Amino acid sequence: MRTIRDLDLHNRRAFIRVDFNAPVKDGRVTDDTRIRAAVPTIQLAREKGAKVILASHLGRPKGAPEAKYSLQPVLGPLSELIGAPARFAPDCVGPDVAALIAELQPGDVLLLENLRFHAGEEKNDEAFARQLAALADAYVNDAFGAAHRAHASTAGMAAFVAERGVGLLMERELEYLGKALHAPEHPYVAILGGAKVSDKIEVIDKMLDVADAVLIGGAMAYTFLKARGAEVGRSLVEDDKLEVARALEAKARERNVRLRLPTDHVVGDLARPELEPQTVSATATPADLAGYDIGPETVAAYCAEIAAARMIIWNGPMGIFEHPRYAAGTNAIAAAVAEAEAVSIVGGGDSVAAINAAGLGAKITHVSTGGGASLEFLSGLELPGVAALK
Ligand code: 3PG
Repeated sequence: MRTIRDLDLHNRRAFIRVDFNAPVKDGRVTDDTRIRAAVPTIQLAREKGAKVILASHLGRPKGAPEAKYSLQPVLGPLSELIGAPARFAPDCVGPDVAALIAELQPGDVLLLENLRFHAGEEKNDEAFARQLAALADAYVNDAFGAAHRAHASTAGMAAFVAERGVGLLMERELEYLGKALHAPEHPYVAILGGAKVSDKIEVIDKMLDVADAVLIGGAMAYTFLKARGAEVGRSLVEDDKLEVARALEAKARERNVRLRLPTDHVVGDLARPELEPQTVSATATPADLAGYDIGPETVAAYCAEIAAARMIIWNGPMGIFEHPRYAAGTNAIAAAVAEAEAVSIVGGGDSVAAINAAGLGAKITHVSTGGGASLEFLSGLELPGVAALK
Protein backbone atom coordinates (compact mmCIF):
# COMPACT_ATOMS: atom_id res chain seq x y z
CA MET A 1 0.00 0.00 0.00
CA ARG A 2 1.34 3.45 -0.90
CA THR A 3 1.65 6.17 1.69
CA ILE A 4 1.58 9.93 1.38
CA ARG A 5 5.38 9.79 1.32
CA ASP A 6 5.25 8.03 -2.07
CA LEU A 7 2.94 10.58 -3.72
CA ASP A 8 4.09 13.50 -5.85
CA LEU A 9 1.96 16.30 -4.46
CA HIS A 10 3.82 19.34 -5.76
CA ASN A 11 1.33 21.95 -6.91
CA ARG A 12 -1.36 19.26 -6.80
CA ARG A 13 -4.71 19.27 -5.07
CA ALA A 14 -4.43 16.72 -2.24
CA PHE A 15 -7.77 15.61 -0.77
CA ILE A 16 -7.01 14.33 2.73
CA ARG A 17 -9.83 12.47 4.49
CA VAL A 18 -9.25 13.12 8.18
CA ASP A 19 -11.31 12.14 11.22
CA PHE A 20 -12.09 15.47 12.88
CA ASN A 21 -15.11 13.96 14.63
CA ALA A 22 -14.21 15.85 17.80
CA PRO A 23 -16.49 16.75 20.71
CA VAL A 24 -17.90 20.28 20.32
CA LYS A 25 -19.67 22.22 23.05
CA ASP A 26 -21.11 25.72 22.61
CA GLY A 27 -19.23 26.11 19.34
CA ARG A 28 -15.85 25.08 20.80
CA VAL A 29 -13.83 21.90 20.39
CA THR A 30 -13.43 20.38 23.88
CA ASP A 31 -10.84 17.72 22.97
CA ASP A 32 -8.46 18.34 20.06
CA THR A 33 -6.78 14.90 20.15
CA ARG A 34 -8.03 13.89 16.71
CA ILE A 35 -7.07 17.23 15.11
CA ARG A 36 -3.60 16.97 16.65
CA ALA A 37 -3.23 13.41 15.39
CA ALA A 38 -3.71 14.51 11.76
CA VAL A 39 -1.16 17.35 11.91
CA PRO A 40 1.94 15.36 10.77
CA THR A 41 0.14 14.29 7.57
CA ILE A 42 -1.15 17.82 6.89
CA GLN A 43 2.32 19.32 7.43
CA LEU A 44 3.96 16.72 5.20
CA ALA A 45 1.46 17.51 2.43
CA ARG A 46 2.20 21.23 2.82
CA GLU A 47 5.96 20.61 2.78
CA LYS A 48 5.51 18.65 -0.43
CA GLY A 49 3.86 21.71 -1.98
CA ALA A 50 0.33 20.35 -2.03
CA LYS A 51 -2.82 22.44 -2.11
CA VAL A 52 -4.40 20.75 0.88
CA ILE A 53 -8.12 19.97 1.04
CA LEU A 54 -9.27 18.52 4.38
CA ALA A 55 -12.56 16.66 4.62
CA SER A 56 -14.28 15.00 7.58
CA HIS A 57 -17.56 14.13 9.18
CA LEU A 58 -18.59 15.41 12.60
CA GLY A 59 -21.36 13.77 14.59
CA ARG A 60 -24.27 12.03 12.95
CA PRO A 61 -26.34 14.54 10.97
CA LYS A 62 -28.98 12.92 8.81
CA GLY A 63 -27.74 13.76 5.30
CA ALA A 64 -28.59 17.49 5.51
CA PRO A 65 -26.93 20.56 7.07
CA GLU A 66 -27.39 21.05 10.82
CA ALA A 67 -25.60 23.97 12.47
CA LYS A 68 -24.55 21.98 15.56
CA TYR A 69 -22.59 19.57 13.39
CA SER A 70 -20.66 22.20 11.44
CA LEU A 71 -16.91 21.72 11.18
CA GLN A 72 -16.39 25.48 11.54
CA PRO A 73 -15.33 25.16 15.23
CA VAL A 74 -12.39 23.00 14.10
CA LEU A 75 -10.92 25.83 11.99
CA GLY A 76 -9.38 27.80 14.89
CA PRO A 77 -7.64 24.88 16.63
CA LEU A 78 -6.53 23.51 13.24
CA SER A 79 -4.95 26.82 12.18
CA GLU A 80 -3.20 27.07 15.52
CA LEU A 81 -1.84 23.53 15.35
CA ILE A 82 -0.46 23.89 11.81
CA GLY A 83 0.81 27.43 12.45
CA ALA A 84 -0.99 28.87 9.42
CA PRO A 85 -4.49 30.19 8.75
CA ALA A 86 -6.64 27.46 7.22
CA ARG A 87 -9.66 28.54 5.19
CA PHE A 88 -13.19 27.17 5.47
CA ALA A 89 -15.52 26.08 2.66
CA PRO A 90 -19.23 26.27 3.55
CA ASP A 91 -19.91 22.97 1.72
CA CYS A 92 -17.88 19.96 0.59
CA VAL A 93 -18.86 19.79 -3.10
CA GLY A 94 -20.20 22.16 -5.76
CA PRO A 95 -19.02 25.16 -7.79
CA ASP A 96 -18.35 27.43 -4.77
CA VAL A 97 -16.04 24.83 -3.27
CA ALA A 98 -14.32 24.32 -6.64
CA ALA A 99 -13.77 28.09 -6.86
CA LEU A 100 -12.18 28.18 -3.38
CA ILE A 101 -9.93 25.26 -4.34
CA ALA A 102 -8.90 27.04 -7.55
CA GLU A 103 -7.56 29.90 -5.42
CA LEU A 104 -5.31 27.66 -3.30
CA GLN A 105 -1.53 28.06 -3.52
CA PRO A 106 0.93 25.28 -2.63
CA GLY A 107 0.99 24.91 1.16
CA ASP A 108 -2.49 26.41 1.65
CA VAL A 109 -5.13 24.48 3.58
CA LEU A 110 -8.89 24.47 2.96
CA LEU A 111 -11.23 22.72 5.41
CA LEU A 112 -14.49 21.52 3.86
CA GLU A 113 -17.84 21.51 5.64
CA ASN A 114 -19.20 18.24 7.12
CA LEU A 115 -19.36 15.45 4.52
CA ARG A 116 -22.45 14.00 6.21
CA PHE A 117 -24.48 17.10 5.27
CA HIS A 118 -24.95 15.13 2.01
CA ALA A 119 -26.89 11.86 2.08
CA GLY A 120 -24.54 10.46 -0.58
CA GLU A 121 -21.68 10.26 1.93
CA GLU A 122 -23.01 7.49 4.18
CA LYS A 123 -24.73 5.76 1.27
CA ASN A 124 -21.39 5.60 -0.53
CA ASP A 125 -23.27 6.97 -3.52
CA GLU A 126 -21.16 6.78 -6.68
CA ALA A 127 -22.24 10.15 -8.07
CA PHE A 128 -21.31 11.84 -4.76
CA ALA A 129 -18.01 9.95 -4.61
CA ARG A 130 -17.21 11.17 -8.14
CA GLN A 131 -18.09 14.77 -7.14
CA LEU A 132 -15.60 14.56 -4.28
CA ALA A 133 -12.99 12.92 -6.48
CA ALA A 134 -13.34 15.70 -9.08
CA LEU A 135 -11.96 18.15 -6.50
CA ALA A 136 -8.61 16.38 -6.25
CA ASP A 137 -5.51 15.11 -8.04
CA ALA A 138 -4.51 12.86 -5.15
CA TYR A 139 -6.46 11.13 -2.36
CA VAL A 140 -4.99 10.46 1.06
CA ASN A 141 -6.92 8.60 3.73
CA ASP A 142 -5.74 9.49 7.23
CA ALA A 143 -9.11 8.93 8.94
CA PHE A 144 -8.36 5.73 10.85
CA GLY A 145 -11.25 6.45 13.24
CA ALA A 146 -13.70 6.23 10.32
CA ALA A 147 -11.95 3.49 8.34
CA HIS A 148 -14.58 0.92 9.40
CA ARG A 149 -17.19 2.92 7.46
CA ALA A 150 -17.70 2.22 3.75
CA HIS A 151 -18.68 5.77 2.90
CA ALA A 152 -18.07 7.90 -0.22
CA SER A 153 -15.13 9.79 1.32
CA THR A 154 -13.59 6.83 3.16
CA ALA A 155 -13.94 4.21 0.44
CA GLY A 156 -15.95 5.04 -2.71
CA MET A 157 -13.99 8.00 -4.03
CA ALA A 158 -10.59 6.26 -3.88
CA ALA A 159 -11.27 4.48 -7.18
CA PHE A 160 -11.90 7.76 -8.99
CA VAL A 161 -8.68 9.60 -8.07
CA ALA A 162 -5.51 8.85 -10.03
CA GLU A 163 -3.13 8.81 -7.04
CA ARG A 164 -3.92 7.49 -3.59
CA GLY A 165 -2.29 6.46 -0.36
CA VAL A 166 -2.58 6.31 3.41
CA GLY A 167 -1.62 9.19 5.68
CA LEU A 168 0.95 8.99 8.47
CA LEU A 169 -1.63 8.49 11.23
CA MET A 170 -3.36 5.69 9.36
CA GLU A 171 0.04 4.11 8.68
CA ARG A 172 0.98 4.24 12.37
CA GLU A 173 -2.37 2.83 13.48
CA LEU A 174 -2.11 -0.05 11.02
CA GLU A 175 1.46 -0.74 12.06
CA TYR A 176 0.76 -0.97 15.80
CA LEU A 177 -2.65 -2.60 15.64
CA GLY A 178 -1.33 -4.93 12.93
CA LYS A 179 1.48 -5.99 15.27
CA ALA A 180 -1.06 -6.50 18.07
CA LEU A 181 -3.08 -8.77 15.82
CA HIS A 182 -0.48 -10.64 13.78
CA ALA A 183 3.02 -10.30 15.21
CA PRO A 184 3.01 -9.53 18.93
CA GLU A 185 5.99 -9.75 21.22
CA HIS A 186 5.68 -12.27 24.04
CA PRO A 187 4.61 -12.42 26.78
CA TYR A 188 1.61 -10.69 25.25
CA VAL A 189 -1.20 -9.57 27.55
CA ALA A 190 -4.60 -8.38 26.28
CA ILE A 191 -6.75 -6.46 28.77
CA LEU A 192 -10.36 -6.34 27.65
CA GLY A 193 -13.11 -4.54 29.51
CA GLY A 194 -16.40 -2.81 28.89
CA ALA A 195 -20.01 -3.51 29.60
CA LYS A 196 -20.93 -6.18 27.10
CA VAL A 197 -19.46 -9.49 26.01
CA SER A 198 -21.48 -9.10 22.82
CA ASP A 199 -19.36 -6.07 21.79
CA LYS A 200 -16.10 -7.90 22.37
CA ILE A 201 -16.68 -11.56 21.38
CA GLU A 202 -14.67 -11.34 18.16
CA VAL A 203 -11.81 -9.45 19.81
CA ILE A 204 -11.60 -11.89 22.73
CA ASP A 205 -11.69 -14.76 20.26
CA LYS A 206 -8.85 -13.25 18.17
CA MET A 207 -6.78 -12.47 21.24
CA LEU A 208 -7.08 -16.10 22.35
CA ASP A 209 -5.25 -16.93 19.10
CA VAL A 210 -2.31 -14.64 19.75
CA ALA A 211 -2.03 -13.58 23.42
CA ASP A 212 -0.51 -15.43 26.38
CA ALA A 213 -3.01 -13.94 28.82
CA VAL A 214 -6.40 -12.26 28.39
CA LEU A 215 -7.52 -10.25 31.42
CA ILE A 216 -11.25 -9.58 31.59
CA GLY A 217 -12.76 -6.61 33.42
CA GLY A 218 -15.82 -4.38 33.30
CA ALA A 219 -19.37 -5.62 33.48
CA MET A 220 -18.70 -8.28 30.86
CA ALA A 221 -16.79 -10.19 33.54
CA TYR A 222 -20.14 -10.93 35.22
CA THR A 223 -21.41 -12.78 32.18
CA PHE A 224 -18.27 -14.97 32.35
CA LEU A 225 -18.64 -15.42 36.13
CA LYS A 226 -22.30 -16.33 35.86
CA ALA A 227 -21.42 -18.82 33.12
CA ARG A 228 -19.10 -20.46 35.69
CA GLY A 229 -22.02 -20.64 38.11
CA ALA A 230 -21.05 -17.73 40.38
CA GLU A 231 -23.58 -15.63 42.27
CA VAL A 232 -23.38 -12.18 40.62
CA GLY A 233 -26.28 -10.44 42.40
CA ARG A 234 -27.71 -7.63 40.32
CA SER A 235 -24.59 -7.15 38.20
CA LEU A 236 -25.12 -6.58 34.51
CA VAL A 237 -25.25 -9.95 32.73
CA GLU A 238 -26.06 -10.88 29.14
CA ASP A 239 -27.95 -14.09 29.73
CA ASP A 240 -28.01 -14.89 26.03
CA LYS A 241 -24.19 -14.87 25.96
CA LEU A 242 -23.51 -17.45 28.70
CA GLU A 243 -22.82 -20.14 26.09
CA VAL A 244 -20.47 -17.79 24.22
CA ALA A 245 -18.60 -17.15 27.47
CA ARG A 246 -18.26 -20.92 28.06
CA ALA A 247 -17.02 -21.45 24.51
CA LEU A 248 -14.38 -18.73 24.92
CA GLU A 249 -13.24 -20.33 28.19
CA ALA A 250 -13.00 -23.69 26.44
CA LYS A 251 -10.92 -22.16 23.65
CA ALA A 252 -8.60 -20.58 26.21
CA ARG A 253 -8.03 -23.97 27.91
CA GLU A 254 -7.40 -25.65 24.58
CA ARG A 255 -4.87 -23.05 23.52
CA ASN A 256 -3.30 -22.76 26.95
CA VAL A 257 -4.07 -19.06 27.26
CA ARG A 258 -4.67 -17.64 30.73
CA LEU A 259 -8.18 -16.19 30.41
CA ARG A 260 -8.39 -14.44 33.78
CA LEU A 261 -11.54 -13.22 35.47
CA PRO A 262 -11.77 -10.97 38.53
CA THR A 263 -11.48 -12.79 41.87
CA ASP A 264 -12.96 -9.88 43.79
CA HIS A 265 -14.94 -6.79 42.97
CA VAL A 266 -16.36 -3.59 44.35
CA VAL A 267 -20.12 -3.74 44.71
CA GLY A 268 -22.83 -1.22 45.47
CA ASP A 269 -26.11 0.14 44.20
CA LEU A 270 -26.10 3.26 42.03
CA ALA A 271 -29.71 3.90 42.97
CA ARG A 272 -28.76 4.02 46.69
CA PRO A 273 -25.74 6.38 46.84
CA GLU A 274 -25.92 6.37 50.66
CA LEU A 275 -24.56 2.80 50.62
CA GLU A 276 -20.76 2.65 50.89
CA PRO A 277 -19.16 0.48 48.20
CA GLN A 278 -17.87 -2.86 49.55
CA THR A 279 -15.26 -5.28 48.28
CA VAL A 280 -16.45 -8.88 48.03
CA SER A 281 -15.23 -12.13 46.55
CA ALA A 282 -16.20 -12.44 42.89
CA THR A 283 -18.27 -15.52 43.66
CA ALA A 284 -20.31 -13.99 46.48
CA THR A 285 -22.01 -10.79 45.41
CA PRO A 286 -24.93 -10.02 47.73
CA ALA A 287 -28.21 -10.64 45.90
CA ASP A 288 -29.34 -6.99 46.05
CA LEU A 289 -26.04 -5.40 44.91
CA ALA A 290 -24.17 -5.08 41.62
CA GLY A 291 -20.47 -5.17 40.78
CA TYR A 292 -19.12 -1.89 39.41
CA ASP A 293 -15.33 -2.30 39.54
CA ILE A 294 -12.63 -4.92 39.94
CA GLY A 295 -11.32 -5.31 43.50
CA PRO A 296 -7.80 -4.89 44.93
CA GLU A 297 -6.88 -8.59 44.75
CA THR A 298 -7.78 -8.61 41.02
CA VAL A 299 -5.87 -5.37 40.48
CA ALA A 300 -2.76 -6.92 42.04
CA ALA A 301 -3.04 -10.08 39.94
CA TYR A 302 -3.63 -8.17 36.69
CA CYS A 303 -0.82 -5.71 37.46
CA ALA A 304 1.59 -8.64 37.93
CA GLU A 305 0.66 -9.94 34.45
CA ILE A 306 1.10 -6.43 33.02
CA ALA A 307 4.50 -5.91 34.66
CA ALA A 308 5.81 -9.18 33.17
CA ALA A 309 4.54 -8.49 29.65
CA ARG A 310 6.58 -7.42 26.63
CA MET A 311 3.49 -6.32 24.76
CA ILE A 312 0.13 -5.12 26.06
CA ILE A 313 -3.10 -4.18 24.40
CA TRP A 314 -5.87 -2.57 26.42
CA ASN A 315 -9.43 -1.93 25.24
CA GLY A 316 -12.30 -1.12 27.59
CA PRO A 317 -12.54 0.06 31.21
CA MET A 318 -12.50 -2.24 34.25
CA GLY A 319 -15.61 -0.69 35.79
CA ILE A 320 -17.87 2.34 35.68
CA PHE A 321 -14.90 4.66 36.09
CA GLU A 322 -16.96 7.79 35.38
CA HIS A 323 -18.13 7.35 39.02
CA PRO A 324 -15.09 8.18 41.19
CA ARG A 325 -16.09 5.49 43.75
CA TYR A 326 -15.74 2.82 41.09
CA ALA A 327 -12.72 4.19 39.21
CA ALA A 328 -9.88 2.67 41.26
CA GLY A 329 -9.59 -0.51 39.17
CA THR A 330 -9.49 1.28 35.82
CA ASN A 331 -7.05 3.89 37.15
CA ALA A 332 -4.73 1.22 38.61
CA ILE A 333 -4.68 -0.64 35.29
CA ALA A 334 -4.00 2.64 33.44
CA ALA A 335 -1.04 3.37 35.73
CA ALA A 336 0.32 -0.18 35.41
CA VAL A 337 0.11 -0.12 31.60
CA ALA A 338 1.82 3.29 31.55
CA GLU A 339 4.61 2.09 33.86
CA ALA A 340 5.19 -1.21 32.07
CA GLU A 341 8.39 -1.71 30.06
CA ALA A 342 6.31 -3.36 27.34
CA VAL A 343 5.13 -1.99 24.00
CA SER A 344 1.70 -0.69 25.02
CA ILE A 345 -1.29 -0.03 22.82
CA VAL A 346 -4.53 1.48 24.11
CA GLY A 347 -7.66 1.69 21.99
CA GLY A 348 -11.34 2.46 22.50
CA GLY A 349 -12.87 5.72 23.71
CA ASP A 350 -13.21 4.87 27.42
CA SER A 351 -9.78 3.39 28.06
CA VAL A 352 -8.17 6.24 26.11
CA ALA A 353 -10.22 8.71 28.21
CA ALA A 354 -9.00 7.01 31.41
CA ILE A 355 -5.37 7.21 30.24
CA ASN A 356 -5.72 10.87 29.25
CA ALA A 357 -7.59 11.85 32.44
CA ALA A 358 -4.67 10.43 34.42
CA GLY A 359 -2.22 12.38 32.23
CA LEU A 360 -0.52 9.12 31.16
CA GLY A 361 -0.93 9.40 27.37
CA ALA A 362 2.76 10.17 26.78
CA LYS A 363 3.77 6.93 28.53
CA ILE A 364 1.79 4.70 26.16
CA THR A 365 3.58 3.50 23.02
CA HIS A 366 0.49 3.97 20.85
CA VAL A 367 -2.86 5.51 21.80
CA SER A 368 -5.29 4.66 19.01
CA THR A 369 -7.63 7.34 17.64
CA GLY A 370 -10.09 4.64 16.62
CA GLY A 371 -12.97 3.41 18.76
CA GLY A 372 -15.15 1.23 16.54
CA ALA A 373 -12.38 1.08 13.93
CA SER A 374 -9.79 -0.35 16.32
CA LEU A 375 -12.28 -2.95 17.63
CA GLU A 376 -13.18 -4.07 14.11
CA PHE A 377 -9.52 -4.21 13.12
CA LEU A 378 -8.61 -6.27 16.20
CA SER A 379 -11.50 -8.59 15.40
CA GLY A 380 -9.65 -9.44 12.20
CA LEU A 381 -12.03 -7.64 9.85
CA GLU A 382 -10.67 -5.79 6.84
CA LEU A 383 -11.54 -2.10 7.16
CA PRO A 384 -13.26 -0.69 4.04
CA GLY A 385 -11.17 2.48 4.28
CA VAL A 386 -8.03 0.39 4.04
CA ALA A 387 -9.30 -2.07 1.43
CA ALA A 388 -10.16 0.83 -0.91
CA LEU A 389 -6.50 1.89 -1.03
CA LYS A 390 -5.12 -1.47 -2.09
C1 3PG B 1 -15.81 7.60 15.63
O1 3PG B 1 -15.92 8.59 16.36
O2 3PG B 1 -15.77 6.43 16.07
C2 3PG B 1 -15.63 7.81 14.16
O3 3PG B 1 -15.41 9.14 13.86
C3 3PG B 1 -16.79 7.24 13.39
O4 3PG B 1 -17.98 7.90 13.70
P1 3PG B 1 -19.39 7.18 13.43
O5 3PG B 1 -19.49 6.08 14.43
O6 3PG B 1 -20.42 8.26 13.58
O7 3PG B 1 -19.34 6.63 12.01
